[in-house]
Amino acid sequence: MSITEKVNLTTGSGWGSGPCVGNTGSVPRLGIPALCLQDGPNGVRFTDFVTHFPSGLAAASSFNKELIYKRGKAIGREHKAKGVHIALGPSIGPMGLKAKGGRNWESFGSDPYLQGVLGAATVKGIQEEGVVAVAKHLVGNEQEHFRQVGEWDHGDYDRLDSSISANIGDRAMHEVYLWPFADVVKAGVGGVMCGYNMVNNTYACENSYLLNYLLKEELGFQGFVVSDWGAQHSGVTSALSGLDMTMPGEVFDDWLGGKAYWGPLLTRAIYNQTIPQERLNDMASRILAPFFAMKSIQLPSEEEIPNFSSWTHHTYGQQFPYQHYGAIVQQNWHVDARSEINDEIGLELARQAVVLLKNKNRHLPINKDDGVRRLLVAGLAGGNDPNGFNCRDQKCTDGTLTSGWGSAAVNNPWVITAQEAISKKARERGITLDISEDNWDLERTEELADFADMTIVVVNSASGEGYIDVDCNYGDRNNVTLWHNGDELIERVTCHCKRVVVVVNAVGPVNMEKWIEHDHVVAVLFVPPTGQFVGAAIAEVLFGEVNPSGKLPFTIARKNSHYVDIRDSLGDCVDPQDNFERGVYLDYRFFEKHTIRPRFEFGHGLSYTKFSVSDLDICEINPPAEYLPCPPDYLPLSKTIQDDVCDPEDALFPHDEMDPVPGVIYPYLYSENIRSLEDDDCYDYPKGYDPDQKCEAPLAGGASGGNSALWETLYKVSAKVTNEGSMAGNYVAQLYIEFPSTIVASPPKVLRGFDKIFLQPNECGDVEFDVKHRDLSIWDADSQQWIIQTGTYKLYVSTSSRKVELCGEIEIGC
Ligand SMILES: *[C@@H]1O[C@H](CO)[C@@H](O)[C@H](O)[C@H]1NC(C)=O
Ligand SMILES: *[C@@H]1O[C@H](CO)[C@@H](O)[C@H](O)[C@H]1NC(C)=O
Ligand SMILES: *[C@@H]1O[C@H](CO)[C@@H](O)[C@H](O)[C@H]1NC(C)=O
Ligand SMILES: *[C@@H]1O[C@H](CO)[C@@H](O)[C@H](O)[C@H]1NC(C)=O
Ligand SMILES: *[C@@H]1O[C@H](CO)[C@@H](O)[C@H](O)[C@H]1NC(C)=O
Repeated sequence: MSITEKVNLTTGSGWGSGPCVGNTGSVPRLGIPALCLQDGPNGVRFTDFVTHFPSGLAAASSFNKELIYKRGKAIGREHKAKGVHIALGPSIGPMGLKAKGGRNWESFGSDPYLQGVLGAATVKGIQEEGVVAVAKHLVGNEQEHFRQVGEWDHGDYDRLDSSISANIGDRAMHEVYLWPFADVVKAGVGGVMCGYNMVNNTYACENSYLLNYLLKEELGFQGFVVSDWGAQHSGVTSALSGLDMTMPGEVFDDWLGGKAYWGPLLTRAIYNQTIPQERLNDMASRILAPFFAMKSIQLPSEEEIPNFSSWTHHTYGQQFPYQHYGAIVQQNWHVDARSEINDEIGLELARQAVVLLKNKNRHLPINKDDGVRRLLVAGLAGGNDPNGFNCRDQKCTDGTLTSGWGSAAVNNPWVITAQEAISKKARERGITLDISEDNWDLERTEELADFADMTIVVVNSASGEGYIDVDCNYGDRNNVTLWHNGDELIERVTCHCKRVVVVVNAVGPVNMEKWIEHDHVVAVLFVPPTGQFVGAAIAEVLFGEVNPSGKLPFTIARKNSHYVDIRDSLGDCVDPQDNFERGVYLDYRFFEKHTIRPRFEFGHGLSYTKFSVSDLDICEINPPAEYLPCPPDYLPLSKTIQDDVCDPEDALFPHDEMDPVPGVIYPYLYSENIRSLEDDDCYDYPKGYDPDQKCEAPLAGGASGGNSALWETLYKVSAKVTNEGSMAGNYVAQLYIEFPSTIVASPPKVLRGFDKIFLQPNECGDVEFDVKHRDLSIWDADSQQWIIQTGTYKLYVSTSSRKVELCGEIEIGC
């Protein structure tokens, strides 16, 4: 490839310049079309006839690996049907450090092990369907406030000088934030997206230590690093620091301005020898590698291109609708990407994501024989949003919540609201039903509640991505209180009805202290954003057609002060510092360390049946070794790519072949650039940059996902689960491990396995956990390696992070 061809692959052609949210340049000479990168993690964004799948958080609540793998496949199939080449998902960061973090609902809950297993299952699913997955966001993007200078112009944003810096210690980086990235690299993920924030005061997308060392050397990642949209902040530095692709092409917030860090300037930096050609070759190889490394993924031909446009719903429109430029052409083929199987997967996952938090005296499932003949459904969050199912990026919150807002939002083909689904089931059972949707004028609601045998109150709380504010919530939530006067609604209803069921449809933890212990609040469901299926899942659980089996993927605290706050004001500084002071004590690990009783703990979720767990078995598969074996040396390069030593004149815009489209980023040199090339002085590489291929891998590295010994199963743990109740149901068994403190103190318990099993009444079955080398290791920052400490490891097979069913021990000697 020529320099301009290679540069074309690295640089997005500009926001709105192609059908997708990100489009690379093409290489017509080799028949490589512009690669299409499209959001997102929960389905295909900005188009029609697609499924709106349950969110990452909902997937996490299901604790069902197999189903999440199927969700990945279904999401992959829909991207494929629309012609997407690279899907921007899964989200495995944010890690859920902050309860109010705007994007927590996109990823898989507040535990690195959970995020890792589910992230890897999703990557596998998407890529098996022929689409490259991109895991995001590397790393520490735990809040939306101050992620980008210039995103807002109110309040402290005016004074903001640089994005917020996530300052993460080396141990927390390895054991928490980077942990799931090791899983996805091991699973063969093609791309990794670097985030908007800084890490240790260097932008994530130009942090050489993060990208070149931790990701590419230590985790052995061989795919490409793509910037979040506008997260690139330099040209030469980001290239040398390990960024391989910039999106959408131009600098942040100058969409259509055509100003880019790369494109023509990357070409120039190659010609003036500031960036070695090997680095450009490496970028291009990394971008193309996923299309050759996996049998399931082929490099697209020029015909295999998207058949939708992110920029118009119309069938026909100008070729560049965003630019209002070009001839009228077909833009949308309205391909129906959905299928019966995708619907089934989405609905089943939604059902399994519903968490039954409380069920006093077994008032659920709803039973007519139990005296429930008159039902009231109260709360606007149970109904239709007056703005319809699809206001831009799902920022409407005045109805049943299908999603948070932002780039991970998907258009709903339809929505089953809680009201609709509950009404239908009530009718079928001869139960009478009324509704009340005004959350402020509560007199009418009280009147209706007065003569209802049971009131179902649906309430919500939403958040989303930082570029949208809803009711002054700039991505992150301002509070963990229910929205739309939810607390008062519940309190007033409980004064008038003795059986109140609260359905909390929310993006994360909410404070329930005002009403949770009230005698009349007989049951509470937590329902994460579950896409179009939300109401169906709620109603099926309420009426007992589905036995709830979801588990909380985060902790709900009693006091708001137990959560980590969002940094939302600057004080005297202009470069906000976010010190990750909790270290490895994320979520339940913090509560356990300080023996703080949460309201509902991580992993909590009730069932309509009763399970018993017995017969713990721990079997050694491979003997544990304290230290990792040295990884093999890297293979020598078998072939080096020939440098393109052509004349810079070859890199000029080919005016005889085409006309430039306004606002599109091209790889070509401007002629004035060529004239001044000879004036360029020599340029020192940034500190620590070494263009030479290394021969030795770091001790923790050497293979995809790190040292391959880390992935060896050392123990197989199993237990027997029996359904002792009268209803069939799913059971989630969780394995927590308590480490010895021979070298360092660790959290009292960390999740290291989970398994879900479906059992008929009186049936029993086995749950199994593979305990890998990595699962017993701590990261030793001094010696830069994973170490298995000697001593006693306690194993807890549990129903939640606090309810232990069985314990056992592993003794590791020296
Ligand atoms: C770069 O990409 C653009 C847009 O797809 C295309 O028109 C151009 O021909 C490509 N240039 C080269 C050198 O392949
Ligand atoms: C960030 O700084 C901490 C404290 O100095 C250090 O332990 C860690 O390795 C650094 N991480 C990165 C990615 O620079
Ligand atoms: C080479 O070109 C790049 C891109 O314009 C520029 O940033 C860099 O400073 C140039 N190198 C030298 C030595 O002038
Ligand atoms: C939609 O795009 C896919 C992938 O490029 C292609 O296989 C399919 O035929 C396209 N459908 C239509 C109607 O263009
Ligand atoms: C919490 O935020 C929501 C949404 O902006 C708002 O409606 C509510 O009044 C807030 N609650 C408190 C106690 O400030």
